[in-house]
Amino acid sequence: MNEKALYTLNYGVYVVSTKSKEKLNGQIANVVFQITAEPPKIAVCLSKENLTHALVSESEIFNISVLGECCTMKLIGKFGFKSGRDIDKFKNYDYIIGKNGAPIVTDSAVAYIECKVENTMDVGSHTLFVGGVTEGDLLQKDAPMTYSYYHLELKGKEPETAPTYRKK
Ligand SMILES: Cc1cc2nc3c(=O)[nH]c(=O)nc-3n(C[C@H](O)[C@H](O)[C@H](O)COP(=O)(O)O)c2cc1C
Repeated sequence: MNEKALYTLNYGVYVVSTKSKEKLNGQIANVVFQITAEPPKIAVCLSKENLTHALVSESEIFNISVLGECCTMKLIGKFGFKSGRDIDKFKNYDYIIGKNGAPIVTDSAVAYIECKVENTMDVGSHTLFVGGVTEGDLLQKDAPMTYSYYHLELKGKEPETAPTYRKK
């Protein structure tokens, strides 16, 4: 099997955020995609190792910030390589609270979408959460960041918890 065939699939770069009890948290995810239009539904694939996975399982709500090309490696490093178990990721970044009560990173984001979990599928190392879209709006004007822009322009990597992690 030539694993390079998998590398031809396209993605974006997002923050998936949530709140459970009083804890706000979020993580970078590239496996985020719309699955139906009427009504609109979105699927996100989260590692069982991540705090975000535990909090979305509890709260059954999640929000998506669509990151723009203006987003820095500093933000992606904080949300994508560190765990909310160790730090408060929202400190020093702009965010708003969505109508569903969960945070939305507005720093470097071109749009946001709020979701309520309707279904889950255990896919082994990860869970696929299917959310019904409850709210959404545009934020600043910028090109939405693609996964290939992240790799080619920002020279970004991903941790092993990413569903599309590329072994060396
Ligand atoms: C570019 C990039 C893409 C990622 N995509 C995903 C993803 O789709 N799903 C996932 O579970 N983790 C993904 N990750 C890894 C999580 O963001 C990372 O494990 C994070 O530290 C989890 O934080 P938490 O423990 O606070 O939830 C990605 C990371 C990067 C940098």
